[in-house]
Amino acid sequence: MLKVSLVLCFLLIKFSSGTDNFSRDDFPPGFVFGASSSAYQVEGAADEDGRTPSILDTFAHAGNFDGATGDVACDEYHKYKEDVKLMADTGLEAYRFSISWSRLIPNGKGPVNPKGVQYYNNLIDELISNGIQPHVTLHHSDLPQALEDEYGGWVGREIVKDFTAYADVCFKTFGDRVLYWTTMNEPNVFSLGGYDIGFLPPQRCSAPFGVNCSRGNSSVEPYIAVHHLLLSHASAARLYKKKYQDKQHGFVGINVFAYWFVPLTKTIEDELAAQRALDFYTGWILSPLVFGDYPDVMKKNAGSRLPAFTSLESRSVKGSTTANIAEPMPTPNLVHLVAARNFDVNEPLWTLHVNGSSNSQACGAGLVLTSLDKVVLEYALQLSDHQQRG
Ligand SMILES: *[C@@H]1O[C@H](CO)[C@@H](O)[C@H](O)[C@H]1NC(C)=O
Ligand SMILES: *[C@@H]1O[C@H](CO)[C@@H](O)[C@H](O)[C@H]1NC(C)=O
Ligand SMILES: *[C@@H]1O[C@H](CO)[C@@H](O)[C@H](O)[C@H]1NC(C)=O
Ligand SMILES: *[C@@H]1O[C@H](CO)[C@@H](O)[C@H](O)[C@H]1NC(C)=O
Repeated sequence: MLKVSLVLCFLLIKFSSGTDNFSRDDFPPGFVFGASSSAYQVEGAADEDGRTPSILDTFAHAGNFDGATGDVACDEYHKYKEDVKLMADTGLEAYRFSISWSRLIPNGKGPVNPKGVQYYNNLIDELISNGIQPHVTLHHSDLPQALEDEYGGWVGREIVKDFTAYADVCFKTFGDRVLYWTTMNEPNVFSLGGYDIGFLPPQRCSAPFGVNCSRGNSSVEPYIAVHHLLLSHASAARLYKKKYQDKQHGFVGINVFAYWFVPLTKTIEDELAAQRALDFYTGWILSPLVFGDYPDVMKKNAGSRLPAFTSLESRSVKGSTTANIAEPMPTPNLVHLVAARNFDVNEPLWTLHVNGSSNSQACGAGLVLTSLDKVVLEYALQLSDHQQRG
């Protein structure tokens, strides 16, 4: 089910239930309409011009997408001009794409690949000359396989340094034209899929939570991976602020898959279950960004399996994205949200019904290019209310 969330669909947000009839007036003035993709799903040219495999290549070539691979995909690498023309014809205001880390820096670290630089320069310039804002994601499930092999990728602490160096190359090379950066695509989904259930790369998991993984530990690694994703996000954001902000005036954000849960009944058990599920699935990422720490219920239930932030890390994660989250800011791209929805079209967006004995799973499709919106604010307000009540 979660696989669907990787397929980022262009989906309209539903502010009120009852009608699907929208106009631009239903959206705030600064709302940006766009579409998005990920490198592995559109670029193709998987082993051309110096690109090396990512964990998604490995996963696909092992047959995990029923034989499908991104070797050719939409061939955007060769057809970007046609693609951008289609975007312009569609009337898109923005295109959010991701950079293939192993195309820009083969093997994840070391020398930069000039052919990779040239491709992304071409794409960015083509977008801008068609009046389309480039929004760039740095990590969309496609960690260089070389780093996975060297130290376990996101479960290795070394990743923070290597990700920051990669981000530095991107900011330095493309930041004169790119204002909107998303460090990580859906770290919550990436971690649950890749390290808990094991049906996404890097396919690490352990029974009884995941099946068919040859390595991994579902009890601890999802927490470790997210911890390193958050520290890497914070480190890249801090670097941008220090080294590029004054000159480039851009925004560094993160993208969270916004699972949303409502209690099935009004019983206290169901209400607690809904809050707990929200904390585990969404607060896992948002709470450190907003408050500098994981939700209390996660710390209590996961105990020592959940890494602890040092006070320095806590401050850097807290300040990294949402400096002022309690007040809606006019700045777009602080947190991109991907709304979860049930496939039943009669269900309102975002909501999943849970009862005291279950955590439902989301079926999802994506919405991106929102500004700080309802889900984040609702979550932040609930959490601060909760914390004030002790
Ligand atoms: C949307 O609104 C217009 C104008 O009020 C109306 O003509 C049209 O039938 C509506 N479409 C849907 C799908 O409700
Ligand atoms: C696990 O692997 C076995 C053997 O390849 C296969 O038959 C089974 O369908 C797999 N299970 C899942 C859930 O992918
Ligand atoms: C996972 O790690 C925990 C903590 O180190 C350990 O207690 C547990 O046995 C490990 N599980 C597996 C399946 O390796
Ligand atoms: C609560 O969830 C469990 C697990 O999903 C399910 O078996 C049970 O039927 C649910 N109870 C109600 C009242 O829906």
